[in-house]
Amino acid sequence: MIDLIARLFRRPQAAIVDARPRDATAIAAVHALCFRHGWSETEFERLLSDRAVVGHVARASGGVGAVVGFVLSRLVEDEAEILVVAVVPAERGRGLAGRLTGRHLGRLAALGVTRVFLEVDEGNQPALRLYARAGFQEVGRRAGYYPRPAGNVAALTLRRDLT
Ligand SMILES: CC(C)(COP(=O)(O)OP(=O)(O)OC[C@H]1O[C@@H](n2cnc3c(N)ncnc32)[C@H](O)[C@@H]1OP(=O)(O)O)[C@@H](O)C(=O)NCCC(=O)NCCS
Repeated sequence: MIDLIARLFRRPQAAIVDARPRDATAIAAVHALCFRHGWSETEFERLLSDRAVVGHVARASGGVGAVVGFVLSRLVEDEAEILVVAVVPAERGRGLAGRLTGRHLGRLAALGVTRVFLEVDEGNQPALRLYARAGFQEVGRRAGYYPRPAGNVAALTLRRDLT
């Protein structure tokens, strides 16, 4: 009985769907909540209109709610670079980025991508755990790449092969 009541009141999981140019405003708002330097709505419109860019958004309440996370990649031949993954602070720590990334990598594989790269701040523990769990491995390191108030930190290049 308690289980049934809990299920009735549980928030539906966010749904993961393809990102469209019309999502640019919502994606820019999520990005602004997640990064010190937000990218403009115009920048996201440009990216989402680019045929070489693939994106997914997570929509709250089973797909009818606000955009609460997204992932974008750029494809060049059979390689892709993940440009950004972000989840709004209120929705973090529940596996949403993991689900977004899993769905996204599946789409990239279906499009014929064989290698996926990304760059990440070596101090970004949540992102490092997310990518490690998604099967990425470190293949390069650029010392002092990201300026931070406490001193520059390295960018790690990670790679995941899709077979
Ligand atoms: C990185 C980010 C997308 C993760 O989103 P999320 O939905 O919380 O991620 P998940 O719930 O799927 O968890 C992914 C992993 O991060 C871990 N994690 C989550 N929050 C963490 C925290 N504060 N500290 C350490 N690890 C954390 C989770 O435990 C999980 O690892 P595990 O599977 O080994 O347990 C989110 O923190 C974010 O948007 N950060 C700001 C933007 C950013 O840095 N993006 C990545 C670089 S582009």
